[in-house]
Amino acid sequence: MDIIKIYDNSNKLYYIGGVVRDKLLGVESFDVDITFEGNAIEHCSQFGEIIQENPDFGTVRVLVNNKEVDFASTRSEIYPQKGHLPVVSKIGCSLKEDVMRRDFTVNALAMRVSDGEIIDYVNGQEDLKNKLLRVLHNESFIDDPTRIIRGLKFRVRFDFDLEENTRKLQEKYLENINYDMSFKRVKKELMETFNLNSQRAFELFVNEGIYKLVSPIKFELPNVNIEELLRKYPVDNIWLVYVGLLPDLSNIELTKTERNIIDDARQIGELNSDFEIYKAFDGLAIESVLLYGITHNLGTAKRYLDDLRHIKISVSGENLLTLGIQPSPKYQEIFDNILKSKLQNPNMTKEDELNLVKKLF
Ligand code: CTP
Repeated sequence: MDIIKIYDNSNKLYYIGGVVRDKLLGVESFDVDITFEGNAIEHCSQFGEIIQENPDFGTVRVLVNNKEVDFASTRSEIYPQKGHLPVVSKIGCSLKEDVMRRDFTVNALAMRVSDGEIIDYVNGQEDLKNKLLRVLHNESFIDDPTRIIRGLKFRVRFDFDLEENTRKLQEKYLENINYDMSFKRVKKELMETFNLNSQRAFELFVNEGIYKLVSPIKFELPNVNIEELLRKYPVDNIWLVYVGLLPDLSNIELTKTERNIIDDARQIGELNSDFEIYKAFDGLAIESVLLYGITHNLGTAKRYLDDLRHIKISVSGENLLTLGIQPSPKYQEIFDNILKSKLQNPNMTKEDELNLVKKLF
């Protein structure tokens, strides 16, 4: 997303957070956060028609040159319940106070809209140059443990490392996790991290014990390069092929579809023939087949995805009726027989299939 040009001469309007980091890194931003040092609702109505405002958070959406732009008031926050969403303690605080509530120094940079000046209270530019993620204070992960997963996400996205003290704070937190946390936010960060499809992210997640944020049950890295696997077999829910490997996901609220993908994969046992493989995987999501492949037998999953899934029988119920076979559970038996032959000989034509039916039934 491009930086939005706004003509402001107050010297109190700032691009802030990820957008400044991305601009300095020369990469595209996902979103553009803009903050006003003071009351954004009062100040920013001059830029255009107000679409929506939320006085409790001091945020306002304004139509600027036909684009909807969100403006936030500077705000400070406190964490009355560690691990849960923070509560706004002051709207319209100083820019410095707003910056100090943030996760990493590289995300705590501001750029003044009027003249492009970078405001850096926390040495974020230095860390950006050295590719380091550094928390702003020692309680940061205790306040918000999702920052550990955010750290993982940024490390992988930008090829950054954790700064030494930040690494120690992460280790310390992971040795003593407070599971009374907002797992909704954990899920969001897991999705964003693992949808990047990065084997490195998964290795760090497992080797550094970050997975324990989800559940403490010991987990070891499977001997499969999941990133490569997903490049060969693309899926919609990339993150689920990683996170779905964890033995206990009860803390994470899954949608019905996500739950089914995981349960389907876990219900399948040993498969001993092409016919068994086909019957087990037919109709399942590719994510489920891959999860089975990673945890049980990769060869079996690949056999299905590369070859078997493309095989379909041509004979229909209508064809059987034409042959004078009355509808009954026998139909399934016939279809299975055709399938068994066709899995051995995928070149069978419809005529071959019909001949087989005539011969057997
Ligand atoms: N933030 C934080 N702690 C969190 C989430 C967000 O301190 N748990 C702060 C960071 O300063 C971050 C800003 O809020 O830069 C906006 O959050 P978000 O949009 O999630 O992150 P971005 O840094 O904009 O990253 P992305 O490029 O992924 O949007």
